[in-house]
Amino acid sequence: MKTFELNNQTMIPAVGFGVFQIPNNGPTYDATLAALKAGYRHIDTAAGYMNESDVGKAVKDSGIAREEIFITSKLWLQDYGYENAKKGIENSLKALDTDYIDLYLLHQPYGDYLGAWKALEEAYQAGKIKAIGISNITVNLWNKFKDGMTIMPAVNQVEFNPFTQQKELRKVMDENNIRLEAWFPLGHGNKDLLENETIVSLAHQYNKNAGQIILRWIYQEGVISLPKSTNPERMKGNIDIFDFALTDDEMKAIQALDTGKATHNPEDPANETRLMGLKIHD
Ligand SMILES: NC(=O)c1ccc[n+]([C@@H]2O[C@H](COP(=O)([O-])OP(=O)(O)OC[C@H]3O[C@@H](n4cnc5c(N)ncnc54)[C@H](OP(=O)(O)O)[C@@H]3O)[C@@H](O)[C@H]2O)c1
Repeated sequence: MKTFELNNQTMIPAVGFGVFQIPNNGPTYDATLAALKAGYRHIDTAAGYMNESDVGKAVKDSGIAREEIFITSKLWLQDYGYENAKKGIENSLKALDTDYIDLYLLHQPYGDYLGAWKALEEAYQAGKIKAIGISNITVNLWNKFKDGMTIMPAVNQVEFNPFTQQKELRKVMDENNIRLEAWFPLGHGNKDLLENETIVSLAHQYNKNAGQIILRWIYQEGVISLPKSTNPERMKGNIDIFDFALTDDEMKAIQALDTGKATHNPEDPANETRLMGLKIHD
């Protein structure tokens, strides 16, 4: 598995396996174990997915050394604010049954964000978290929060794929040496994307499927991707992207597919209200 270097010299596997919307108590355990067997070494979970404990069990049972596996988790909004966040971090460590988390993110940009960030900074300094980052941060939200941060985030995990290229955000993140991570790298299974003519024609040319072309393009863009598949063949295929390379012209052809739009707008007050209302514990 190829890796990228983060701004604190931590190495992160370029493709991770996302476990969003996979239930706990079995299905996430099975999916994580299958992903590790298929060669993934990077698992992306979150307190809000309520499946950290299955990820922890699968990592333990995989027989792979803990330090060879990169685990990302995220703090949920209900645990924002300095004191709550300290407890939230401990809860994630306990649920994952691990001494440290490789990367821990503030999942959503609402509530007492900077209080929670301070707790992440302290856990980072204490070695409980090896890298800290942000998610769903737009340029406006970055400008709102950046001055309250002492430690520069290592990543910003946002919606990103050929239709949603976040060009302005990427420029600002690049200037600050914050690496982008792509959620919905395959457009959450969007048929228009997976059947796009440019992508399908490259898939034929390289004897790959459309998903692999998209994931290779994301890799060559320098962005970490988190594809999810419950299909064993696609799960394997989604990391089999390192034996070919797209040319500059092919990269440009995919860059031209950007719509400048995203399905999720973190600045929409309706999203803030909806997400602030989601409780993951009493
Ligand atoms: N930070 C955030 O707020 C946030 C938000 C959303 C997601 N995420 C992260 O991003 C991860 C990925 O999101 P996602 O799973 O919804 O989106 P995705 O990976 O873009 O899409 C998954 C869908 O694509 C299909 N698929 C997978 N590989 C394929 C291939 N090679 N060819 C064609 N179809 C393929 C899957 O179906 P099959 O299962 O049938 O293969 C599934 O329906 C999540 O698990 C989570 O870790 C983070």
